Amino acid sequence: MCYLPKFNDDNLLVGLDKSDDAAVYKISEDTAVILTMDFFTPVVDNPYTYGQIAAANSLSDIYAMGGKPVIAMNIVCFPNCLPIDILGKILRGGADKILEAGAIVAGGHSVEDNEPKYGLSVMGLINPDKVVTNSGAKPGDVLILTKPLGTGILNTAIKADLVDKEAIKKVVDVMSYLNKDACEAMQKVGVNGCTDITGFGLLGHALEMAEGSSVTIEIWTDYLPIMKESIDLAKMGIIPGGAYRNEKHVGNKVIFKNDIKQEIKDILFDPQTSGGLLISVSEDKSEELMKLLRKNNKTDFGIIGRVKNMTDKPLEVI
Ligand code: CO
Ligand code: CO
Ligand code: CO
Repeated sequence: MCYLPKFNDDNLLVGLDKSDDAAVYKISEDTAVILTMDFFTPVVDNPYTYGQIAAANSLSDIYAMGGKPVIAMNIVCFPNCLPIDILGKILRGGADKILEAGAIVAGGHSVEDNEPKYGLSVMGLINPDKVVTNSGAKPGDVLILTKPLGTGILNTAIKADLVDKEAIKKVVDVMSYLNKDACEAMQKVGVNGCTDITGFGLLGHALEMAEGSSVTIEIWTDYLPIMKESIDLAKMGIIPGGAYRNEKHVGNKVIFKNDIKQEIKDILFDPQTSGGLLISVSEDKSEELMKLLRKNNKTDFGIIGRVKNMTDKPLEVI
């Protein structure tokens, strides 16, 4: 990004410099456009399921800004040695998630490539006053995570054939679940900050939020929603390479205050595929948000920490 010139436009509400989930551009007093794109290689064998997960992941950045997805474009890389039927199933999985989101597919682009890749570019809409950035967290806020952690570890184990059918179904359900319900709940209540937890893991994305908001984020490990199978797998050393990169990236910006077990540290750095929203909400609104999530959110979630005035570290884990 440092190779790019500086772009200036007063209507650009969220741009490159913010490390946020999506770009936001104001087109009138009451409307802003949200733009995102995301694609990746298959995380599961089933092409339809892979399509669902990749689409849910791409749509998530719109929800992380508090927006409503409107139009999606397919991004496809596909080898010509594979049956075209597989591509059809991938696209169908994605299209079904876009339908569920209440959005439409209006086109796309495909390129021949040795390894399949799929994702979406999504356009969403939002009222400019209701944009939720990752830099709005305030001291005194409560932090809520809307999906359980451990998808990266479980995906690694699935590839090594170490996971039974039940656990596969569980992690697939989590990854393909839209952040729509969580987004609608947070917009109903009104929150200060939000981001979605994806490749940088919980601590990587929490760090962006802490630094962007000039606060310290305290994470409570006893309260984290975690898929319990991932704890056992982490103990066996089944950790994706991305977790080590995330740990290195966060570096000395985190302090572990108690004796945190290694497998829990691994889960804090575990890169998530289509993870939940990390929401920063004022304490007086947090109970209302939890109530809405209890009613509507279909995955495990919870209050996982709080926001404090800046200390010498942006992240504290207790
Ligand atoms: Co994001
Ligand atoms: Co993204
Ligand atoms: Co956001």
